[in-house]
Amino acid sequence: MSAHEIKKGIYWVGAIDWAVRNFHGYLTQQGTTYNAYLVVDEKIVLVDTVKQELTDQMMYRIGQIVDPSKIDYILSNHVEPDHSGAIPEVLEAAPQAIILTTKKGEKGLTRHYKADWNYQVVGTGDKLDIGKRTLVFINTPMVHWPDSMVTYLPEDKILFSNDAFGQHIASTERYDDELGWSLVKRDSAKYYANIVLPFDKQVNKALTGLSGLDIDLICPSHGIIWRSYITDILGEYQKWAANETEPKALIVYDTMWNSTAKLAWELEKGLSASGVPVTVRTLKVNHISDIMTDVLTSKLMLLGSPTLNNTLLPTMSEFATYLKGLRPKNRMGYAFGSYGWGGQSVAELEKIMEDLKWECPLPGNKVEYVPDQDELAAAFESGQKLAELVLR
Ligand code: FEO
Repeated sequence: MSAHEIKKGIYWVGAIDWAVRNFHGYLTQQGTTYNAYLVVDEKIVLVDTVKQELTDQMMYRIGQIVDPSKIDYILSNHVEPDHSGAIPEVLEAAPQAIILTTKKGEKGLTRHYKADWNYQVVGTGDKLDIGKRTLVFINTPMVHWPDSMVTYLPEDKILFSNDAFGQHIASTERYDDELGWSLVKRDSAKYYANIVLPFDKQVNKALTGLSGLDIDLICPSHGIIWRSYITDILGEYQKWAANETEPKALIVYDTMWNSTAKLAWELEKGLSASGVPVTVRTLKVNHISDIMTDVLTSKLMLLGSPTLNNTLLPTMSEFATYLKGLRPKNRMGYAFGSYGWGGQSVAELEKIMEDLKWECPLPGNKVEYVPDQDELAAAFESGQKLAELVLR
């Protein structure tokens, strides 16, 4: 795919990573892109770069537009190597180029690359005249690293948002409407749930900072460019950052000899019978990063694990660790599981929910060995009671 002009004199020159399937634990079934953009004005500005391994793709696309040695500025909105990895090679071609970044960006790039580069530190309130256009910088710390910022181009009404509003999708399409709202919304939700979720306060602050901007295009550093669903994605971010959920349930469990699975299905039946939509995810076949997409919008979280070696099954421990780091708020929780002796798993799950400050209105349910008819009926009833609480 060639460089693509997104507005007159402004080009997408990024890289498509068709092969990546694991982005430090995030399952990227559809690959991803690392989006870099080239603004050709009196000064030539490269907005972010790509992962080091895909530098050739980006340099090829830049070379279709300008001689890379003519680049005046490398705008580094974010230090993480999927966006800064190609800076050393760009600087080999254009050693005079100045790196525009935040104060923390300068520190982060110096720590990553151990090099003495030319920096111009920028931040909220700063503007840079590049000819007919102006770069306007807005710090967005912890969305999702301390160094993060976004850059606005008022003359073209473009927001270069870096990781914010991104999605991990590799495609030849470059725009939201070419893939359709339901697909880009789903992938944006997964991206938010796995990367941005812990930073709700900072996202709210960033959204406030962006609220007055007139935007034609949001150009993130992953996935498609937003041009038709800008209001929609801003609305979703507002909801997600407010920890707004829907009155629905998510059951996440693993099982050894099917006893915990039996409890999961009785809970599902009780909830469904009372009008609450339920999604059921066994950790045997669902990846934790996919489950987080369901977590994002579910009010009620039911976690089930049998006791193994006096603790949780390793699959549930892994999920719980991930969940604790991502810190979804304002949820209602419920724990269940079978045991042979010991029976610590349910208390451990309740402790995790307590640490997350979730409301746990019903005591957890632990069942010795295999649930009998009375215990299955009790699980069904718990599902019904939880449904009432979710729908109240
Ligand atoms: Fe896409 Fe935080 O890097």
